[in-house]
Amino acid sequence: MKGIILAGGSGTRLYPATLAVNKHLLPIYNKPMIYYPASILMLAGIRDILLISTPRDTAMFRDVLGEGHQYGLRISYAVQERPDGLASALTIGEEFIGKENACLILGDNVFFGHGLPALLSESVSGIEKDGGAVIFCSYVDDPERYGIAEINGGSVLSVAEKPKDPKSNWAITGLYFYDNECSRIAAGVKPSARGEREITSVNEEYLRRGKLKAKLLGRGFAWFDAGTHDSFLEAGEFAATIEKRTGLMLGCMEEIAYRKGWIDREGLLKLAAPLEKTGYGRYLTRVAHEDR
Ligand code: G1P
Repeated sequence: MKGIILAGGSGTRLYPATLAVNKHLLPIYNKPMIYYPASILMLAGIRDILLISTPRDTAMFRDVLGEGHQYGLRISYAVQERPDGLASALTIGEEFIGKENACLILGDNVFFGHGLPALLSESVSGIEKDGGAVIFCSYVDDPERYGIAEINGGSVLSVAEKPKDPKSNWAITGLYFYDNECSRIAAGVKPSARGEREITSVNEEYLRRGKLKAKLLGRGFAWFDAGTHDSFLEAGEFAATIEKRTGLMLGCMEEIAYRKGWIDREGLLKLAAPLEKTGYGRYLTRVAHEDR
C-alpha cells in the first residue's frame, strides 16, 4: 500500500501565523506537525510516501524530510497548483499509486490511542483482501465543522460534508484507506458549492457501490485537526501532556523507524546527534540503548 500526505492549502484559518510558513511545518509541541501524519502511515507499515504541497512550500518539506532514507522510507514530492480540494490528492497521486492501494492522510491530523496500530493494520489488510474504502470516524461535539458519517452498527448509511443539519456526531477524520479505484473515482468528482473537489464525494461513491466501511475511534482515542488557533494549541498541549506523563513520544518518526527495524541502532544515533541539546535528541539516544 502507498501513502499520500496532503500538506497543501493556504492555512487561512491560522492567519497571521501562517502568512509566510506552511502550517504543517509549525511545531505541535516539539516537532513539526507533518511528523504526526507521517508517523501514522509508518505505523500502518507504509514506507512509500508521496507528499503533496503548494508550489511555494514543497521545497521546504524536502528540506525537513528529504528522500526519507534516514527513516527507511521513500518519500517523493508533488505539487498541488491550487487548493481545489482533497480529492485532487488522489488524481495528483495517480501515477504514484500505480497498481496499488492507497492511504491518504491530511497533514494537519493528529491521532492518538492505544490500539491504533492494530486498527491501521486491520484497515490495510481489509483493503488488500476485499477492496473498497475505510474511513476513520471520531465522536465530536461540533459536527457542522467536518465531514459526517451516519452510522448504524458497523455500517455507514450516509456521508455529508459539513452538514447544516448533521445526522450524527461521527466526524470523518482525515485518514482514508482506498483500493486502486480511488484515482478514477476522484477524477470524476465535480466541485462542491464551496468550489472544492470534496473527499466526501469520493467516499459517497464508495458508499453507493456498497464498499465503504468505518472504524470508530471511541473512548480512549483522541483526534485533532490542528487547523485553527484553538485546535492547534490543544493538539500541542495534548502531545506535551502525554509525553511528559508517560515518558514516551507521540509522532516520533525516528523511533517508529527503529522499532519497525527499518533503521538500525547506528542510524538512530545518527539522527539523535544533531538534536543532542534537546529532550527530543536525548529521548532518541535513550531508545537506541533500550532493547527493541
Ligand atoms: C476536511 C474534509 C472533512 C474532514 C476534515 C478532517 O475538511 O473536507 O470531511 O472531516 O478535513 O480534518 P477541511 O479541513 O477541508 O475543512
